[in-house]
Amino acid sequence: MVKSTGYKKVKTAVFISGTGSNLKSLIEFSKTKKSPISINLIVSSNSKAKGLHLGKINNIKKKVFNFKKKNKIENQILSLLKNHEIKMICLAGFMKILSRNFINKFRGKILNIHPSLLPKYKGLNTHQRALNNNEKYSGCSVHFVNSKLDSGKVILQKKVKISKNETKDSLAKKVLVQEHKLYAKAILKVFNL
Ligand code: GRF
Repeated sequence: MVKSTGYKKVKTAVFISGTGSNLKSLIEFSKTKKSPISINLIVSSNSKAKGLHLGKINNIKKKVFNFKKKNKIENQILSLLKNHEIKMICLAGFMKILSRNFINKFRGKILNIHPSLLPKYKGLNTHQRALNNNEKYSGCSVHFVNSKLDSGKVILQKKVKISKNETKDSLAKKVLVQEHKLYAKAILKVFNL
């Protein structure tokens, strides 16, 4: 459990690489009274990530990092997080794998959202793999991040029924709608709220 510091919201960074629809819903949630977190920083691994525009609209500082030299970049991110007094990290469509060293510095304070019912379909291309296996259900999971890909303890999951003529795109859309609700719920759970 992450401790909430009374009335003060826990400063949180969201890491993205793309569209940022989960970032958008996290920002909306963070502005509600019941949210234990505020979003104070957006980190992107991609300078072209659509989600970056949400920083400007919402007056949240954003920073792009090129992960080619991972160790060096992670150290830069760690000092940025320190400067902004960030205590929690939400990965939301973030396509890079963080090192064990980085994760250990934020042990139990990094969450991720994944578009499958973990432990099924870790990694990429989840929707197509679920369809190929004739699954009746898919869904999404919010989990703690550890040093193994999509393997940390699951906090919450939401099931989605796969329809007869489902395609990977229609399934992705359906699951994404649920992702947006699930992330906020999982955060409340992490804070015991
Ligand atoms: C989501 O499906 C998320 O679960 C996955 O990548 C997608 C990102 O979507 N890891 P968005 O950038 O939040 O719109």
